[in-house]
Formats: sequence, structure tokens, C-alpha cells
Amino acid sequence: MVLSDDTKTSSENGSEIDRERKAFDDTKAGVKGLVDAGVVNIPRTFIRPPGEIAEELTTHQGKLQVPVIDLDGIRYNKLEDIVDQVRAASETWGFFQVINHGIPLHLMEEMIEGVHKFNEQDVEVKKPFYTREPTRNVRFNSNFDLYHSRTASWRDTLAIFTSGTKSLEPNELPKVCRDTIMEYIKEVSKLGETLFEILSMALGLKPEYLKDMGCFNIYGVACNYYPHCPQPELTLGAKRHSDPSFLTILLQDQIGGLQVFYENQWTDVNPISGGLVVNIGDFLQVISNDKLKSVDHRVAANVHATSRVSVACFFTGHATETQKPFGPIKELISEENRPVYREFLVGEYFSKYFSKELEGKSAGLKQFEI
Ligand code: OGA
Ligand code: NI
Repeated sequence: MVLSDDTKTSSENGSEIDRERKAFDDTKAGVKGLVDAGVVNIPRTFIRPPGEIAEELTTHQGKLQVPVIDLDGIRYNKLEDIVDQVRAASETWGFFQVINHGIPLHLMEEMIEGVHKFNEQDVEVKKPFYTREPTRNVRFNSNFDLYHSRTASWRDTLAIFTSGTKSLEPNELPKVCRDTIMEYIKEVSKLGETLFEILSMALGLKPEYLKDMGCFNIYGVACNYYPHCPQPELTLGAKRHSDPSFLTILLQDQIGGLQVFYENQWTDVNPISGGLVVNIGDFLQVISNDKLKSVDHRVAANVHATSRVSVACFFTGHATETQKPFGPIKELISEENRPVYREFLVGEYFSKYFSKELEGKSAGLKQFEI
């Protein structure tokens, strides 16, 4: 997830690596700028520690696949069956793909094309969007955790906040993809509503339960751009992490690279035409009291000549409403099923999440364990 920012440098004096990061950030051209400049050896900032790379060699790809769920069944009285499939996938993988979800294919294609267009226009046109300033609703940058992370990732991101301190005005968005983004957010919100109803039922609650609780509401959209990487074995497109959201709906192009950590192995989430990837975020794991799983995932560095694009919509509820606590749902708690987590504020979670490196979920969820 790539939604916030940081401006602090990890050392006041500035070590060599800090200077490299600062110089990279100052170009405002992101990773694409490095590729356009013909970089053959990736800068140190992006190189993973040798131990981490060595460990990589011992993991192997499985033949398993994230479940694919056909939502068309809703129209044919197969709702119960779909609820069962969503429950099974959410309790194990924490991930599933949906097809026949109602979002027009042309809009999905336009969205991917729009992200290409934004990133592939003249760097001078993109520069005004390049910022880490939290008050800006639209922020383009490379690695929200650039100054806090051990290793930076080979990707650039255009992050859009739909409801910050002030609500999003369409003309804040880059012109090349403005209308498409507005339309896409509208459509994904509708799908999110359906998915929250299904998830409520999967938890044995009434369909409106999660929506009434305030889980619903897209707060952030991350338009990710993964240019070709000249040394893909040394870095990643996105580091291992879980999402700080209730639910994430991800549109990916056909290039591939997303991997989910399942049964101790990295498993590719293979793109399917017209499909969308759905994953359970940390907040849904908390409120379901560990019934639904927020699972670690990452993106391999892009080995293809063409840049990879993905668009992640994070449903975080009222992220800016700082006074609403979330904790395990009372109806799911009993003598045999004691609460695993204490209540927390989404704002509190965010400030911790973004003050450090993007990393595995242990850091995110553990802090709220009882
Ligand atoms: C994210 C994420 C995956 C992808 O943005 O949180 O996991 O395929 N993205 O880009
Ligand atoms: Ni993610």
C-alpha cells in the first residue's frame, strides 16, 4: 500500500545512502526516470540485503491458484453458494479473484491505459504532482516510505485520496486520466458495497452489517506503475506487506508479478482477463476476530519490456474520522471465542503504519493484540 508519505530523513547528517535517496527523490522522475536515463545497474537504494536474496532461492513456486469466484451467480439465486466461496477464500488465502463483477471491461482497460498515459507523459508535466505532502489529495511519488525503508521498490505511484481534510475535486486529478478515474472509483464503490454485503453474510451477520459499521468508503486509490527493471533479481516491485484497509480491490494488467504468501510459499496471482483481485485487509481481520485473514503479498520486479500497471482501491471506512473505534464484532465474540484484539482508531493505525517501513503484517496487527 502506498497511500501516505514521509518527509523525515533517517539520519540528520545524511549518510551516502540518504544522499542517494534524496538525489533520486529530487529528480521527481521516479523509477521511470532511471529507466529512461538508461540505468543498467540499479542504485543501492533498491538492492535487497544479500541474506534476503539468498533466502529467496530456497522458496519455490507452488501450483496452487487463488480462488476465482463468478459473481454472475448472484443473479441466478446462487448467492448462498457465493457467500460460501467468499468465506472459504477469505478464511484461508485472504485473496480471491472475481469475474462478472459488473465493472465494464472497457472501463478497466481505460483505467490501465490512463495510468500508462499519466506516467508516460513528459516528466515536466508530471513534476507538479510529485509530492510527499500529506495535505495534498493527489500525490505522485516513488516509494511512500523511501526515507524509512531498508530497500526501496521498483515502482512509482499516483495516490489519490478521496476524502482527506478536504474532499477530492476532480480538477486536482491529472487531466490525462481524470474522467476515467472518477468513473472507475464510482464503479468500484458499487462493487465494494456488494462485497461487503457478501462478507457480512459470510460472517453470519445481516447483509448491511459491515456497511452500517462504517467499513465501506474508499479512502485511497493507488495507481501503481512498475517499469521494466534491469536487475529484477536484486529488488522487488513492492515489498512484502499486508494492506491497512478493510478490503482492497485491485485491478491488474496482464503482465503479472503479484504474489501472495500461502502455505509458506509465494504463489503467483495470475491475471485473468476481466478479473479483479480482492483481498482482506488488516482491519477486517481485526473486526472478524481473526476469522478472515489479511495475508502478506508482494510484487516481483518487472522483467518485461512493457511497464506493469495496477490500481488498488483501499476501503478504509472513515479513515479521517478519528474518534470511531474499531474492534472485534460483539456478535462474533463468545466464551470460546475471546477477543484477540483491542479496539483501535483507524487514524492511530495509519500513523504507526506510515511512520516506518512497509513490511510484513506482524508489525501492523500485532500491536493491537490483547
Ligand atoms: C498494494 C499492492 C499489488 C499490485 O498497492 O497494496 O499490494 O499488484 N499492490 O500492484
Ligand atoms: Ni497491497
